[in-house]
Amino acid sequence: MRPTYTSDLWWKNAVIYCLDVETFKDGNGDGIGDFRGLTQEIDYLAGLGVTCLWLMPFYPTPGKDDGYDVTDFYSVDPRLGTLGDFVEFMRTAHDRGLRVIADLVVNHTSDQHPWFLEARSRRESPLRDWYVWSDVPEPDDKSQIVFPDKEDSVWEFDEKTGQYYLHSFYRHQPDLNVANPAVRDEITRVLGFWMELGLSGFRVDAVPFLIENVDPELADPHDFLADLRAFMTRRKGDSVLLGEVNVPYEDLVTYFGDGLGDQVTMCFDFIGMQRAWLSLARGDAGPLASALRERPKPPKDCQWATFLRNHDELTLDKLTEEERQEVFRAFGPEKSMQVFGRGLRRRLPPMLGGDLRWIKMAYSLLFSLPGTPVLFYGEEIGLGENLEAEGRMAVRVPMQWAPEGGFGRGEPERTMPDGAFGPERVNVADQKRDPGSLLRWIQLLIERYRECPELAWGSCTVLDADHPAVLAHRCDADGATVVILHNLSDTAREVGLTLDGLDGCLLTDLLEDGTTRVPDGGRVSLHLGPHGCRWLRASAPDVPPEDASAKSEHSR
Ligand code: GLC
Ligand code: CA
Repeated sequence: MRPTYTSDLWWKNAVIYCLDVETFKDGNGDGIGDFRGLTQEIDYLAGLGVTCLWLMPFYPTPGKDDGYDVTDFYSVDPRLGTLGDFVEFMRTAHDRGLRVIADLVVNHTSDQHPWFLEARSRRESPLRDWYVWSDVPEPDDKSQIVFPDKEDSVWEFDEKTGQYYLHSFYRHQPDLNVANPAVRDEITRVLGFWMELGLSGFRVDAVPFLIENVDPELADPHDFLADLRAFMTRRKGDSVLLGEVNVPYEDLVTYFGDGLGDQVTMCFDFIGMQRAWLSLARGDAGPLASALRERPKPPKDCQWATFLRNHDELTLDKLTEEERQEVFRAFGPEKSMQVFGRGLRRRLPPMLGGDLRWIKMAYSLLFSLPGTPVLFYGEEIGLGENLEAEGRMAVRVPMQWAPEGGFGRGEPERTMPDGAFGPERVNVADQKRDPGSLLRWIQLLIERYRECPELAWGSCTVLDADHPAVLAHRCDADGATVVILHNLSDTAREVGLTLDGLDGCLLTDLLEDGTTRVPDGGRVSLHLGPHGCRWLRASAPDVPPEDASAKSEHSR
């Protein structure tokens, strides 16, 4: 777990930053973000401390699902720049030590993709079998419909050729038939293409849907994932797949490749995320603690990707109906804040009422959970949402760089939030000058997270913190320990904890000043302010705390 080791398996304690080129920064004044604009802000991202950028789809698209409807997998949306701009961006990112991964959206194409236009032109088309056709609309399981606001079936009738095609998502996104070896070959070529241009891997969109139409009688659908991963490893040993796999924990392990870890390198922890929101809503650590206890250990070299918000609805689909309503009542009581009957189309700071202490605690929680944290752009400054925008677009607002907006020379095509979350109140420039800002806090959390490889690599134990509002956990690795405390309530608390094996150690607070000595017997009492959080490094009295981390030659 020394730096030579963590750098080898870089994804195990990376800090991933998801952004959409279109909403990040406009370099040419047409109101649309682009690669040139993004490249100008590379130093900002490197300075923040993130280690890997995740680019949302930047491929040519009719834009009916914000780019998740692709018409050419080998190119750049001309509104965002050229392949030349992409390569310059990659080179600059690498120069600043940043890795880049991108969305791989190959469960489906746009219905405007030349492959689909060809496939639907006649039944004998050589590309017909690249999509999934049926003479009858197969019986629909309504619960499988992802976008119930727009669709009531996953089969759409094609007039011209008299058959139905499968679309797991919108009807303009026909599913590719990955049972067809030619389709698999082509997908592999897509991966190879972007890896050759420098990508370190992919965030794989909609993984369970991607493999669903492989007939298990003929082949194991998971072989496809293993094949992709093996291909990538041959081309570039340290490349990764980060899977969007929102399924219960017990089903999820197969996506890592069971014990082998030869499929998806990282999976988002959707269950942990949803329980974290339930915990925030209740001011009770219980739901999150239960997720941490139930969450399977990923196979060696694999990792969980943790997050609180992403670019989609904040899905609460894995909670019970009652729990979901609880979170709705707490954080999105109005119908206009909800979407698809299962989620919220809000960003975190407005949900937490703009309460900076609470917001800071929520992110401290995110960074201290075992796994690799993923931020959605703007989370570091507390960007709000625009509920006037349609559906999930509410959270995909332009980045706010300065009091006057600072998105670019022109008026941004998308509308920024206003009022308490408008650019005059929430922006990068002001927060850079303010040591108490959320931006500076996130920067500190990233720094500490990177300095404490125990968090991502170690074994995590949830401790008994004699108060339901407090989550206490410890992470141990290579004889080094950090102890983490979060107060989910807004009342100050004294917390009693038993810290086995740490008798006589010093606990040094890594976020604020302060040390505590662990008495013999290991029982300590620690103070937490309202929504307080503490990260405590344990060190033996004769070892300076800075040397007690698992990254040092001599830990405790
Ligand atoms: C994934 C994406 C979502 C998109 C859908 C269809 O769920 O996160 O934004 O709409 O796939 O591609
Ligand atoms: Ca532009």
